[in-house]
Amino acid sequence: MIRVVFIDRDGVRRECDASDGMTMLELAHENDIDIEGICGGSLACATCHLHIADEWFSRLPAASEEELDMMELAHDRREHSRLGCQISLSEELDGLTVSLPEKEF
Ligand code: FES
Repeated sequence: MIRVVFIDRDGVRRECDASDGMTMLELAHENDIDIEGICGGSLACATCHLHIADEWFSRLPAASEEELDMMELAHDRREHSRLGCQISLSEELDGLTVSLPEKEF
């Protein structure tokens, strides 16, 4: 089982169970987590932006150049920002913890 923790903008933790191969964006939508993902995961919007917990950031596969370019547009971007649609879940990521960035509007 892969369990992921989302921390919302009020600091409330939500644990969600994921399947191998699903993306963080898919998991968030399945569990009504408040991230948009307007482009549906085609790397064209940056509205699936997440802050990755420090201890997990280096354990994720590196971001592609395309993801890094798109993150330039992300609101509330931080050192450990990633795009949720580009993170595929696997057993190695059991326990992954992320926070939701501030909303733009
Ligand atoms: S959903 Fe648009 S870039 Fe991730």
